Amino acid sequence: MNSVVNLTLAKRTQVGDIAFIDLKAQQRRIRPAIEKRLQAVLDHGRYIAGPEIEELEEALAERTGAKTATACASGTAALVIPLLARGIGPGDVVFAPAFTYNATANAILLTGATPVFVDIDPATFNMDPADLQRRIDSVRKEGRLQPSAVIPVDLFGLPADYRAITAIAEREALFMLADGAQSFGGELDGKQVGNLAPATATSFFPGKALGAYGDAGAIFSQNALDRERWTSIRWHGTDEARRESIRVGFNARMDTFQATVLLEKLAIFDDELAARRRIAADYNERLAGVARVQAPIEGGLSGQAYYSLCVENRDAVVKALNEAGVPTAIYYSTPLHLMPAFADYAPSTGLPVTEKTASEIFALPMHAYLTPQQVDYICEAVLAAIRAA
Ligand SMILES: Cc1ncc(COP(=O)(O)O)c(C=O)c1O
Repeated sequence: MNSVVNLTLAKRTQVGDIAFIDLKAQQRRIRPAIEKRLQAVLDHGRYIAGPEIEELEEALAERTGAKTATACASGTAALVIPLLARGIGPGDVVFAPAFTYNATANAILLTGATPVFVDIDPATFNMDPADLQRRIDSVRKEGRLQPSAVIPVDLFGLPADYRAITAIAEREALFMLADGAQSFGGELDGKQVGNLAPATATSFFPGKALGAYGDAGAIFSQNALDRERWTSIRWHGTDEARRESIRVGFNARMDTFQATVLLEKLAIFDDELAARRRIAADYNERLAGVARVQAPIEGGLSGQAYYSLCVENRDAVVKALNEAGVPTAIYYSTPLHLMPAFADYAPSTGLPVTEKTASEIFALPMHAYLTPQQVDYICEAVLAAIRAA
């Protein structure tokens, strides 16, 4: 391992500190604009449901090509609201990958429905459509629960196989809710995330590609009735006048300040996205020969919120990289079916591709403010760490 540290130490001082995600550099770029926006909120005083919420919703719909965008409190709320609006609950099965953030399964269980975990594809790290079909068939055969919905997850920003999963969902009469928490900016066949499924949830958690300065999320839809129901559910299920509850809901509103931050970040999003994609292309070019990198299906383009890759000796490689000053993260070392909260839903078959990928995966720094020298340094360090491991 010393060889990795030695090899890279020489250049280390030249490239400076490498951030895993550099929110500080981004803030320096937009801080005056955000301060101006914040002042406007302080002046009008509508901290909840200020005019910036609708301004953001319109900008998000325009950016994605979705008919409507509904701002809400978090990515988790953005998953729960469409499931509730659809009447998903006890007796229903919702299919989802286990190789995702825990919020995907929590959202299903919070409605009272049952998650059935689906394995992933080894190339895309996203839901394997063939395994989805197998699991639908076995739920139907058992006959105890009703297959009702499917939540494909766009891991690290890469859209799932919506061509195949849409065909299955239509044939099996499943509601398809895309978990696009990580994939704002992603594309499939020239269509944006937000426009690839009847409903799409996204998260604006600060570390996401489009991140607020607190919790926030949004839901995209292709029809106005969804938006009407979702805006009601996010405000305790109230009617338009907000006097009476006409359905069950909860407090799932986005606050006005987060909308102002997101509006300013949206203004630079495409520029940042292009930079992240260039960096991912460099990583792929240098590392695809020695590691399993995430590969899009034909027509797919990642929003590149994160960059993850798989190597056999992951823990040794990560240790060497950290010693060489390259920060890393692991999304996800424990798949959901192996976590205590979801263990009751672990399939008896296990999820072989999910489990293997979880033992091999790690993420490299990914943000628009990495310099070419830093990217070069990171690649050299990864290559040396893999050679030494
Ligand atoms: C795949 C996935 N789904 C759902 C969520 C939940 O989003 P939030 O943290 O905004 O509730 C996240 C992110 O944190 C996520 O990565």
